[in-house]
Amino acid sequence: MTKLMSAAMEARKRAHAPFSNFQVGAALEAEDGRIFTGCNIENATYGLTMCAERVAMFKAISEGARRFRAIAVATGAATLTPPCGACRQILWEFAGDLSVELGNERGQTETFRMRDLLPNAFDSRSLD
Ligand code: THU
Repeated sequence: MTKLMSAAMEARKRAHAPFSNFQVGAALEAEDGRIFTGCNIENATYGLTMCAERVAMFKAISEGARRFRAIAVATGAATLTPPCGACRQILWEFAGDLSVELGNERGQTETFRMRDLLPNAFDSRSLD
């Protein structure tokens, strides 16, 4: 298992997911080598739930990181869990064509590029 996936698995243990019982962990590697982790944090209103990927990205941004290499996303699901649409938009905005490694507890992994997960994205260039 990659170091990044192992950090995502550790972060998953801290998920606050009492409503879905679906725990997710993420680990985002900055270009300077720092790793920022996140877990999903649910809310009784449901709609205020925050995904693991965005927690990791917002932590990184708030700590001053601006360039990123890769993110790992860990769940316990038999089918590997790709980032939701909202997370794809945020990952693209801050990290561009990031490497996205998905993994589960059975040790299965698959790696994607953000440009394939969010083709023809809306971003700052669309505001010209
Ligand atoms: N979730 C994530 O944290 N990341 C994903 O990529 C997919 C979904 C969370 C949100 C919610 O807490 C739970 O998983 C079920 O949707």
